[in-house]
Amino acid sequence: MLKKDIYNFWKKLGLNQVEIDLILQKITGFNKNQLFLTEKIDEKFLEKIELFFSRIVSGEPLEYILEKAEFFSLDFFVDKRTLIPRNDTEIMVEKVLDEKCDILVDVWTGSSCISISVLKNNKDIKKCFVIDLSKKALEVSKINILKYNLEKKIKQINWNLLEKFMLNTKYLENNWNINLKNIIFTANLPYIKNWDFWNIDKEIIEFEPDLALYWWEKTGFELYEKLIYQIFELESIYNIKNIILFIEIGFDQKEICGNFLNKKDLKFEIFKDNSWIDRCVKIIF
Ligand SMILES: C[S@@+](CC[C@H](N)C(=O)[O-])C[C@H]1O[C@@H](n2cnc3c(N)ncnc32)[C@H](O)[C@@H]1O
Repeated sequence: MLKKDIYNFWKKLGLNQVEIDLILQKITGFNKNQLFLTEKIDEKFLEKIELFFSRIVSGEPLEYILEKAEFFSLDFFVDKRTLIPRNDTEIMVEKVLDEKCDILVDVWTGSSCISISVLKNNKDIKKCFVIDLSKKALEVSKINILKYNLEKKIKQINWNLLEKFMLNTKYLENNWNINLKNIIFTANLPYIKNWDFWNIDKEIIEFEPDLALYWWEKTGFELYEKLIYQIFELESIYNIKNIILFIEIGFDQKEICGNFLNKKDLKFEIFKDNSWIDRCVKIIF
């Protein structure tokens, strides 16, 4: 089978040269140069090519097909078990890196793209907890933790929000004998609310995990409210000083978020993402 025929065919489906090269590399195991020098693709790959072809036609995101997504200039393993890391979230990593941090707690970790990007760029962080309700998401997170040799620094927790820390009030001390100050929490929670469901791209609805995206309530901010109440509780249970929470909000949540934080007397700052949308909120406890 001639490589140029595959190019022509897939280009008609809207894929560009780079994307086709990446898919062909994944199928054949060739590197960029080997693929460049190849004119014919062996017939033994035909079955795989057909399979990948049907996945592309069905609208499956390229990141799932390639099992790879780039985030903060790092490659992460991803598949249907987790949300595909979004560029919008990179602003959160940038802002966390501006802070002094001894312990990082990444709530709703998914692929762990946030925590791993932070840890790779700040070697002073001593420990990191990554939390997800989904066991499947934590399997993907584990693959990335091992890929970046961070298994000694990161501890995974399969639990709802911060409840593990509240139910066992010695949890933090027992797991690591650490000094509880300069803790940063990061959270990119499912903030798409019920009436927005109908405006979402078909590919997102069909392929990305529901638990990663939707929160079937009125504002989509309710889960963050719950998390903030839990952090207040943690502050007093553990007597923790200097907590900062970074959250990601939806394009229309600035007001609801600001009103809630003002009511709770919390200082905060809002940062825009690359598309100039209010996206990341730094909350100081
Ligand atoms: C929007 S994704 C964010 C994933 C990742 N942090 C990122 O930025 O790509 C939300 C994640 O939260 C998890 N999740 C949803 N509800 C949760 C809950 N109540 N407690 C803990 N994790 C939850 C989902 O499994 C999903 O992995």
